[in-house]
Amino acid sequence: MSSLAAFGSKTVARGVGRFTDLVLEKGSGAYITTDTGRQMMDFTSGIGVTNLGHCHPKVTKAAQDQCATIVHAQVNIGFNKPQLELMQKLQPLMPHKSLDTFFFWNSGAEAVEASIKLARQATGKQNIIVVQGSYHGRTFGTMAMTKSKTVYGEGFGPLMPGVFTTPYPYWHQVGVPASTSQDELVKQALYQLDLLLKQQTAPRDTAALIIEPVLGEGGYIPAPKGYLEGLRKICDDNGILLIIDEVQTGFGRTGKYFAIEHYPTVRPDIMVIAKGIANGFPLSGIVSRKELMDLQKPGSMGGTYAGNAVSCAAAVAVQEVFEEEKILDNVAARGEELFGLLHELKADKEIGNTIAEVRGLGLMVGIEFNSPTDPYTPSASGAKIPANMASRVQNKCLEQDMLTLTTSVYQCIRFIPPLNITAEEMKKGCDIIRKAITDVVREG
Ligand SMILES: Cc1ncc(COP(=O)(O)O)c(C=O)c1O
Repeated sequence: MSSLAAFGSKTVARGVGRFTDLVLEKGSGAYITTDTGRQMMDFTSGIGVTNLGHCHPKVTKAAQDQCATIVHAQVNIGFNKPQLELMQKLQPLMPHKSLDTFFFWNSGAEAVEASIKLARQATGKQNIIVVQGSYHGRTFGTMAMTKSKTVYGEGFGPLMPGVFTTPYPYWHQVGVPASTSQDELVKQALYQLDLLLKQQTAPRDTAALIIEPVLGEGGYIPAPKGYLEGLRKICDDNGILLIIDEVQTGFGRTGKYFAIEHYPTVRPDIMVIAKGIANGFPLSGIVSRKELMDLQKPGSMGGTYAGNAVSCAAAVAVQEVFEEEKILDNVAARGEELFGLLHELKADKEIGNTIAEVRGLGLMVGIEFNSPTDPYTPSASGAKIPANMASRVQNKCLEQDMLTLTTSVYQCIRFIPPLNITAEEMKKGCDIIRKAITDVVREG
């Protein structure tokens, strides 16, 4: 550990928690260099943020230029030019044309809270439904809405009241074997939601249901199409707003600009955006229809740094890079390579038994390993399954100078490389992943 890292490990709040004690000093494309000169391949993208790689030259230049123009153009004082330009860029990219009015904030959690403020004001109702396994942030409002791990809310109560949880169509949550059909999982999950609305939170008290189109911190599980379509219908039938949290899935991560485009008939009433929008500059926002947004009183939204000008200028450049560099085409090609490797490992005689599922969309990719202590992950041949596969594979990747992240309370590891990763870099990454998993399986 470097002396700076030693200082950090004593001085940074313990509650932050860290996977490594590396000092991440420099970033360039798919690589990070530490203060001791160690070069790491980054398959985390800072938790799905630096989607165009670290320090993309066009984004950096846009931010540098904006720094020399105006840094703080406060939104309750006047318009912020890069923010207006960003809305002009984003409007035509919206998954539904009704999403025409924006509010920008700083972090994902703040934007989720903004979506709840809008839903409550617009409907005059209070209750919010979230899905089990959801992650929406660590602020006071969003802690109550986060159901992926207890650590995010443990000991901080009382949390925001009025939050109800419905199961997600995922075998662990419905409590059935992994081999259960998706149709059956969807049927059960929608049935439970129907019961929730009859037994716990009446539609007349329920403002909104919020969901990530791919459950992120809950295990990288894309929502089945029938489930999101079912939610849209239940929301329509009961006067409930549907909030789509695209914080982690947005801006190309799943192979479409927004993940909800994989579900063309599902219209969000409110969409929450952050992370990849500005490639690392703090920026988030909500998008909704003007008719709803206009119900808010002037002054009820906003904040000192809301939609900072430098972040917005970077975000304008991000949207331009997407078009200029045909980023979505690259996601399709590289995603196929990464999924190809993982499916190959799942089909492998020696390794396949340890893998419960390979899942995700685009370059939002996860593996769930079987666990010897879990009654629902299959161990098809009855073969002995090593414990703690996910963190052990993560550590094996680290030994080979690659950063990855685990996710959820299950044995899941996720791969979130930059969306403009080259074929050569992807091959290198795949070789590291293959070796890491093989080594753990062989060590038993
Ligand atoms: C789906 C989702 N919503 C909200 C958040 C919270 O965003 P932030 O960490 O910027 O507050 C995250 C962060 O990981 C997320 O993945």
